[in-house]
Amino acid sequence: MDKNRIKTFADQVIGDMGSAMGAGLAYVGTKVGLFRSMAGAGPINADDLAKKTGLQSRYVTEWLKGMTCARYLDYDPENETYELPDEHAYLLASEGSDHYVGGLFYSVPMMLGMAPRVANAFVHGGGVPFSDYGSEGVLAVDLMNRGLYEKRFANYWLTTCPTTHERLTTGGNVLDFGCGSGRVSIALAKAFPKSSFTGIDTDSASIKVAKDSVLQENLTEQVRFECGTTDQLPDNERYHLITICDCIHDLNDPLGTLENLRTLLFDDGILFVIEPKAADHLEDNIHPVGAMYYGMSVFHCMTQSLASGGPGLGTCMGPASMEALTRQAGFSRFETLEIKSQTNIFYAVGL
Ligand SMILES: C[S@@+](CC[C@H](N)C(=O)[O-])C[C@H]1O[C@@H](n2cnc3c(N)ncnc32)[C@H](O)[C@@H]1O
Repeated sequence: MDKNRIKTFADQVIGDMGSAMGAGLAYVGTKVGLFRSMAGAGPINADDLAKKTGLQSRYVTEWLKGMTCARYLDYDPENETYELPDEHAYLLASEGSDHYVGGLFYSVPMMLGMAPRVANAFVHGGGVPFSDYGSEGVLAVDLMNRGLYEKRFANYWLTTCPTTHERLTTGGNVLDFGCGSGRVSIALAKAFPKSSFTGIDTDSASIKVAKDSVLQENLTEQVRFECGTTDQLPDNERYHLITICDCIHDLNDPLGTLENLRTLLFDDGILFVIEPKAADHLEDNIHPVGAMYYGMSVFHCMTQSLASGGPGLGTCMGPASMEALTRQAGFSRFETLEIKSQTNIFYAVGL
């Protein structure tokens, strides 16, 4: 055995545990507003931060020390003060922006909290249904994607499909399949006031959030949400654009669903697919994003599909598998769109 390799790997294991604990501490910092309170505040000591936030001083002190060791915070030993650098606040305390990472931290307890049940499924089969992840599950997905959908969908991502963009500007019909909390329809409705939007999702908790948001945004004339799947849609309804975001790999019947969606498109309509960014071959996914996505797959995506009798495609499908699946569903056009993203991959699929 190579002793250096053992030592290097032992260091990696400790580093991984540090990262796991760091992600948990970051969840708490996000949830109770510590990052938000520290953003732009300059150096602050533990007591002042506890007073400012109204949180328990002993917890705040220990959290500050942990986040310092995880290198999220700068520490000044002379004055015993802590500071959230502006560059970190840009990511950690920027709710609603397209650079906010708080949703990732929200996903940590909601996914890892299921670890005992997932381990049980390794032995006995089955999985954990989407609805069992509860309201924190809906919120985590919402926080992960919302800023991106609001800031980038209409004025960047869709511009890569100019004909569809033009159609929505003059007035088109759009379906968001597996809409979750409904942010895609709401963001696009604001950008394309002449178009109509329908969002459908089988998860009633997600649809409740979507319906509340559309009321709040005063968009009920333009956007409607339905709990269910395509059989909830009016007969003969056709769409210029169907969006299916972070969803195909979750489905219990991906082929049947895609076949169904194909029949709902106008001839020149497109299915706009967003999926987690993964390469076709495992050896090309050996990096932190790959490790994160395979973890999310086991603790959420694959497992909730298997729970509902689905194939459990998993989070890391890759473009070749996606192209094969859409062609099998009868689509003839498949294009990987030129959209820059560290975490997502985008496809335009057509008849
Ligand atoms: C990871 S979430 C993505 C939600 C949303 N599209 C987004 O990007 O934020 C996947 C969604 O697909 C929905 N879903 C799964 N299977 C479905 C089906 N057969 N019909 C409709 N929705 C489905 C789930 O309920 C869930 O809300």
